[in-house]
Amino acid sequence: MSKQFAVVGNPIEQSRSPELHHAFAAKTGIDLTYSKRLAPLDGFEANIQDFFAQGGIGMNVTVPFKEQAYAQCQVLTERARIAGAVNTLWMENGVLHGDNTDGQGLVEAIRALDWNLENTDILIIGAGGATRGVIYPLVQAGVKKIVIANRTLTRAEQLIADLKDAVPQAELQAIALTDLAGDFDIIINATSASLSGDALILPEALQFKHAYEMAYGKPSTFLDQARARGVPSAEGFGMLVGQAIESFSIWNGVKPQLKDFL
Ligand code: ATR
Repeated sequence: MSKQFAVVGNPIEQSRSPELHHAFAAKTGIDLTYSKRLAPLDGFEANIQDFFAQGGIGMNVTVPFKEQAYAQCQVLTERARIAGAVNTLWMENGVLHGDNTDGQGLVEAIRALDWNLENTDILIIGAGGATRGVIYPLVQAGVKKIVIANRTLTRAEQLIADLKDAVPQAELQAIALTDLAGDFDIIINATSASLSGDALILPEALQFKHAYEMAYGKPSTFLDQARARGVPSAEGFGMLVGQAIESFSIWNGVKPQLKDFL
């Protein structure tokens, strides 16, 4: 029988993980089946137990279960511990292990665009789970300063208080969304504004050389404004592929090339 993998979430129909993992498998010659699993909102734990009891090798976890997955794991990687969320599960000797590959997915997507990260100043708009998951991998990749701008300033301040000890080599700063200004190498939209169709206004006082929208396949006022300024920009499909490649490589010990799947 082929190796069994799955992604669990609620909803799950929209997930593109099966097609990505099957594409990586075809490229690397690994025999696997990757399915979608819809867990009831109160049935996450039962779902993953059932999957591993049936001989499943690895699972991805998506909305809204990443924090529950974190709480379930007996062993966490450093980056999962810092993110407070898990998107990649596997069993080793009957012990549930968890990692979070989202942040590294973003780093690899940015590298695939040939945008430099070393010694850079980055602005991240948003202070939710998406931002929490990318700070440590960005700093590991050499980012020097990260400004977090959020509609609710206290949430950005809390995020920095939680993460500053994990990234002592970087400068972290919180600002209110209404105070967007400064000059950045890269600005990243990590808010859910594009998903809900809300506009984000980037004032003239905010200057930037590159713009990355974490969402993909949605109209984005953030990207529209970057493009209108002629700034190189990209949306989050590369990050999705990047996190999938990282999970695939943890489970299968082979790392496909991101550029082959964009
Ligand atoms: P995720 O886990 O995807 O980061 P989240 O935790 O719900 O989702 O966080 C959503 C982020 O998008 C928050 O930073 C939120 O700002 P608040 O903390 O002020 O709520 C931000 N956000 C959502 N809609 C927004 C909008 N229309 N304009 C600006 N920021 C928005």
